[in-house]
Amino acid sequence: MLLHKINEVRTQVKEWKKQGLTVGLVPTMGALHNGHLSLIKKAVEKCDRVVVSVFVNPIQFCPGEDLDKYPRTLEADNKMCEDAGVSIVFAPTPTEMYGQNQMRTNDFLTYVIPPFFYVNKLCGKSRVGHFDGVCTVVNKLFNIVNPDYAFFGEKDAQQLIIIQKMVQDLNIDVEIIPCPIVREESGLALSSRNKYLSDDDKIQALALSKILNNIKNCYDKGITDVKALKETAFQFLNEHHELEYLEFCDSETLEEKQTADSKTRVFIACKVGGVRLIDNILL
Ligand code: PAJ
Repeated sequence: MLLHKINEVRTQVKEWKKQGLTVGLVPTMGALHNGHLSLIKKAVEKCDRVVVSVFVNPIQFCPGEDLDKYPRTLEADNKMCEDAGVSIVFAPTPTEMYGQNQMRTNDFLTYVIPPFFYVNKLCGKSRVGHFDGVCTVVNKLFNIVNPDYAFFGEKDAQQLIIIQKMVQDLNIDVEIIPCPIVREESGLALSSRNKYLSDDDKIQALALSKILNNIKNCYDKGITDVKALKETAFQFLNEHHELEYLEFCDSETLEEKQTADSKTRVFIACKVGGVRLIDNILL
């Protein structure tokens, strides 16, 4: 069932709750691929009813980012969800979510602001305000859907950690279920933004997963010095790559590490052909 209105979703979910059914939420921005599908399948397995939200959230895009050209494929998304056993696809308009003042949200909208320690690093450094937009929309979706479980991918590990922190700090009554990264056979992590890559770019984009796998191999062989591990990356980079960061952080607290251990997650962001790609791996 494709719904566009907040009240329609609320009414349906209330009905389910009355019947004692459990509800799962999978928040997405659409252009669904097998990465999203893995979250959806997990949700359908675990919950009696599943809501997938499809909403390209304007307030999490920074000026100059790809808000206007972000792929929008609602018909195909809806079909994929129906086939997977999803009960509701919730696809609101920006006005439905933010009202008429949506273009002036900084002045007129109540925001959920995650802690500075979690956002002044990795993607938060270059995407200023991004995680404010993410936390605000996810909090709104939690309030609209009132899910028992919500599913998030480790592909966006900083986002996942920040949302877990928000749920803890604001006592939100939902269990967050982390889901592993889905990759192409080549190793490239699936992403809606991969659609922007040319065939050549796609080959160059393999550097991200190669760097991470190589670091993991080196760590498994006993190298734990982060400086030494970082240096192993350069052999995979060339003039087609614009490395934004390669960082080693605690997988729960996001504290930066000098010495790697089994709780360390390695995060990489790199532009290829002008497209910003991210990936990560747990050591
Ligand atoms: P979006 O990029 O559409 O991703 C929706 C969910 O799918 C996220 O939890 C993301 O981590 C997960 N995902 C994407 N690619 C994946 C992959 N290759 N393997 C596993 N999971 C993957 O993330 C967002 O949307 C938005 O920020 C959102 C949370 C919906 C808020 O607007």
